[in-house]
Amino acid sequence: MKALVLAGGKGTRLRPLTHTSAKQLVPVANKPVLFYGLEALRDAGITSVGIIVGDTAHEVREAVGDGAKFGLDITYIPQQAPLGLAHCVLIAEEFLADEPFVMYLGDNFLVGGITSLVDAFRAADHDAQILLTKVAEPQFYGVAELGSDGEIVGLEEKPEHPRSDLAIVGVYIFSPVIHAAVRSITPSARGELEITDAITWLIDKGYRVHSHFVSGYWKDTGRLQDMLECNRIILEQIEPDISGTVDGRSEITGRVVVERGAVVEDSVLRGPIVIGADSKITSSYVGPFTSIGARCEVANTEIEYSIVLDSSSIRGVSRIGHSLIGRNVEVNRAEGMPNTHELMVGDHSKIQVRS
Ligand code: TTP
Repeated sequence: MKALVLAGGKGTRLRPLTHTSAKQLVPVANKPVLFYGLEALRDAGITSVGIIVGDTAHEVREAVGDGAKFGLDITYIPQQAPLGLAHCVLIAEEFLADEPFVMYLGDNFLVGGITSLVDAFRAADHDAQILLTKVAEPQFYGVAELGSDGEIVGLEEKPEHPRSDLAIVGVYIFSPVIHAAVRSITPSARGELEITDAITWLIDKGYRVHSHFVSGYWKDTGRLQDMLECNRIILEQIEPDISGTVDGRSEITGRVVVERGAVVEDSVLRGPIVIGADSKITSSYVGPFTSIGARCEVANTEIEYSIVLDSSSIRGVSRIGHSLIGRNVEVNRAEGMPNTHELMVGDHSKIQVRS
């Protein structure tokens, strides 16, 4: 069995971060979300993985390389534009050849891995296997409608009026018959080749499409609140490890990771949190569910339930929460008069000021 990992796309919901970088590389507990998926594929015994890349191809290639560090053999498949999930299958046909494969959306997060799902597919005689889970806002997802015997009777992509609250999780398993399906469908109203249309084609032609309910935690990390939530889930399981330096005036409670070369002085660290390599935390409070990246500086600041990417600095700010801060960002306290907020902010940024 092979795998097709989708790491192209537009990432509009995570702008402005996605203006400059791939959304699949936004870190969860200081590790890119894409890496969790690649590890899950490896753990399921898959080694041959094709990665669909778009505008951020360079960055994805630099982060993942040839896959050796994951125990994988990676083939990059460029997509000239984000023309849909089924379009990704279409352009990967040569790579996938006549093997069944897992299709894994590179920004999806499935706690507990996929080994049991792959094993179930191998043991059964299905043509496709999809995963379903109940969600609060089905209009943002592919949605499945089930019949009285649990069979799939309809699939819709991001419907305005969803017929159920069952979202399709971004991990699919297909037999090679999917290639005929993606060749047969036409673009939807939003101009994309939809995987839901391809699966509907399979069902209409009498192929066996099986659906499983996801028992573990699943998130599509397309939005800020989903990223923060994933970060929380992973940090809750993190093994405490102080490889950096924490001085005697600092106080540590709960699951705390201080990576190599990081220095913590006169601060309160309340886990679960991770402080990245070579970062410096001074006279600050870092509260639960926070990931600080590498080479950051946090001084005279209080921060919690947030993700800070590499090489950013936050000085004299009280108090930051529920935030995602990109790379090389500076957040400073303004001194003197007038008492104003001074902002230089990129396109599509979102700032909420409480004062
Ligand atoms: P989506 O989250 O559905 O789309 P998107 O990345 O364009 O994001 P947004 O809705 O915020 O604009 O895509 C799911 C995953 O599949 C994601 O990792 C990107 C990837 N993808 C491709 O690689 N090619 C494509 O044509 C599409 C639509 C998505």
